[in-house]
Amino acid sequence: MRKQIVAGNWKMNTLLKDGMELAKAVEKMEKETRGDAVVIIAPPFTHLSKIRELIGNVKLGAQNCASEPSGAFTGEISPEMLRSTGVEYVIIGHSERRSHFHEGNDLLNRKVKLSLSTGLKPIYCCGEVLEEREAGRLFDVVREQLEVGLKGLSAADMANMVIAYEPVWAIGTGKVATPGQAQEMHGFIRGLVAEMFGQEVAQNLSVLYGGSCKPSNAAELFRQPDVDGGLIGGASLKAEDFIAIVHAI
Ligand code: PGA
Repeated sequence: MRKQIVAGNWKMNTLLKDGMELAKAVEKMEKETRGDAVVIIAPPFTHLSKIRELIGNVKLGAQNCASEPSGAFTGEISPEMLRSTGVEYVIIGHSERRSHFHEGNDLLNRKVKLSLSTGLKPIYCCGEVLEEREAGRLFDVVREQLEVGLKGLSAADMANMVIAYEPVWAIGTGKVATPGQAQEMHGFIRGLVAEMFGQEVAQNLSVLYGGSCKPSNAAELFRQPDVDGGLIGGASLKAEDFIAIVHAI
């Protein structure tokens, strides 16, 4: 049985004190829930080591990492540094990294491999922009993101991977993919992973949906057979909303 996962991507939001309060609230509510889903929060780098001390049930994630292990890369944070603060998961290839910071599939592949070798579990993001969907290129785009991003990984590596499908037109726009659109792409992703790594790997892989997921639409999305949870942006900044999404699973 693959894991169900709800991950909160806080992006560049909250100052340290507010972030600590939010983490405490999420931890408290998660404890009361006692569900089977893995609940992850990904605060900004500056909050990680403090928040680590406040959570136990809830797992700690980072929003990005460097593609190199150490050295003269001013401003970068390596996967090993993340591990040293108690981080377990790392979001790699979020569409905001791809568009604002020009991160391409080859660079992201290096980040994925380095993270895995450090013992982090990557949440690798893929998804098409609106023009690509309208031009009917959505499957080609996601195929390339996965084929290049996951290049050189073994079946054993894949056991530590999570994939997030985030159609870019749905992120922060309030325009959520329909459950049918989500299922169609999630099924495609699982099929592609089966082609690349075999059926067993594909069946055990958690594929999360992200993009304007909120308490009111989460249950229907999560009911789709190939949707194993969510990567939540805006709605992860309010503990009640985030936990309502956890309840939806
Ligand atoms: P959103 O963001 O939930 O605010 O649309 C999702 C994401 O970017 O991971």
